[in-house]
Amino acid sequence: MDLTLHVWRQNGPEDSGKLETYKAANVSPDQSFLEMLDEVNDDLIKKGDDPIAFDHDCREGICGMCSQVINGRPHGQQEQTTVCQLHMREFNDGDEIFIEPWRARAFPIHKDLIVDRTALDVVMQAGGYTSCHTGGIADGNALLVGKPVADYAMDAAECIGCGACVAACPNSSAMLFTSAKVAQLAVLPQGKPEAKRRVKAMTEAILSEGFGNCTNHYECEAACPKGISVKFIAKLNREYLKSMIPSSTE
Ligand code: FES
Repeated sequence: MDLTLHVWRQNGPEDSGKLETYKAANVSPDQSFLEMLDEVNDDLIKKGDDPIAFDHDCREGICGMCSQVINGRPHGQQEQTTVCQLHMREFNDGDEIFIEPWRARAFPIHKDLIVDRTALDVVMQAGGYTSCHTGGIADGNALLVGKPVADYAMDAAECIGCGACVAACPNSSAMLFTSAKVAQLAVLPQGKPEAKRRVKAMTEAILSEGFGNCTNHYECEAACPKGISVKFIAKLNREYLKSMIPSSTE
């Protein structure tokens, strides 16, 4: 199939940037979206032009690096799919496709489709870990966790930290991301000792890093390639309220 691409080109955070139009010819429906861009870049390089800069790593839907807004939707139109797992069979011959970077104040654009997501790392560094000694495998097996709790924690742990929730939110809120990280640790025995300190520190970090607040649009859940539920935002709010009560148990 033959496609027309309108791609955001921007030389750096200070550049105003603009959409440039490219032709993608003879695109195979079996190609991934990133493979299609690879071929466009091959043609640009052969012509001596600057290739389109875009992020990627695993190309297996697990690292969260591929961050593109395709036709106005983070990760494109296919539900619960990262850009690297989006295939060209989802498009039609003659389609015009608009490709833009994540847009949020907390994610300055490095170049073209690459944004700086250090702000998410700052939120993680504020508390997205456990510092207690959790022992080895034998100790882990001795500390039994009920199946419903384990399932809940694993559902939250599916977050790959891509930032699509931020890109989709009209407030550029990172509440879905943060809530997944807080919730997965808050329900497990290893995460409970630091639960109060963690939720306070991570909540302060999302505000200091320039993310907005949640006003219940649910765009984050719709855009999330891993289907992280907004129920974790309710959990984050409950954990935050609990952290304000000096006598509450962790
Ligand atoms: S490149 Fe790793 S999730 Fe897409």
